[in-house]
Amino acid sequence: MNALLQLASVEADIGGSRILRGVNLEVKSGELVALMGRNGVGKTTTLRSITGLRAIRAGSITLDGQRIDKLPPDARARAGIGYVPQGRDIFPHLTIEENLHVGLVVHGRKGAEAREGLDKVFTLFPVLKEMLSRKGGVLSGGQQQQLAIGRALLTKPKLLILDEPTEGIQPSIIDQIGDALKALKSDGSLAILLVEQYVDFCREISDRFYAMDRGAVTISGDIASLTDDVVKTHLQV
Ligand SMILES: Nc1ncnc2c1ncn2[C@@H]1O[C@H](COP(=O)(O)OP(=O)(O)O)[C@@H](O)[C@H]1O
Ligand SMILES: [Mg+2]
Repeated sequence: MNALLQLASVEADIGGSRILRGVNLEVKSGELVALMGRNGVGKTTTLRSITGLRAIRAGSITLDGQRIDKLPPDARARAGIGYVPQGRDIFPHLTIEENLHVGLVVHGRKGAEAREGLDKVFTLFPVLKEMLSRKGGVLSGGQQQQLAIGRALLTKPKLLILDEPTEGIQPSIIDQIGDALKALKSDGSLAILLVEQYVDFCREISDRFYAMDRGAVTISGDIASLTDDVVKTHLQV
């Protein structure tokens, strides 16, 4: 299988400091890959370099064999990258329906195509359908996370990128989100790159993992090789 997403020797600076020091990572079609690491090692910066929110100073990023690292974020979204940022970033003053509509606009999906996309999202997250006219800001953290994932799915991504989707979310909704990601993966229509510090969640849903430290990947492998020793050495504070 060819890599859907490939990062080769990616370097990025923030305010004169080198934050990414040569990140190498790939996600193949249909894979669910976890990017792990302690706070501040560069996980979010890696995701932002993929989505175009952070310019890179060296290296390359390809999607489906095409260089995307010089494209603006909206072009990368249209090329097939869906992004659920850390902290979710939904529009609090818009209703659930209006928030979801923002996702549809990226591809100009209308009519039957839009309804089909919405139906898929409501199957994954029934609570969104029940609360369509509620404002995003009144939802619980877990519901906002589901809304953010739903909105990203409506952009029809080839690659769905999530930044710490379980952070601050109650266990029952973490399970629902895990089930939804597994269902999306087994559907075969997209690959998932997940930044996550919750080790058991990664073990439960991922195919492979990468662990970062100080701006570079220090170890990677099949999720079965993410042993307690690896966690202790590479991931614990
Ligand atoms: N906007 C910013 N301004 C200054 N420093 C930043 C900014 N964003 C991130 N950093 C720094 O870059 C490093 C990596 O941050 P980040 O990628 O957010 O880490 P992680 O997601 O792994 O916790 C940290 O040391 C952080 O302080
Ligand atoms: Mg982060």
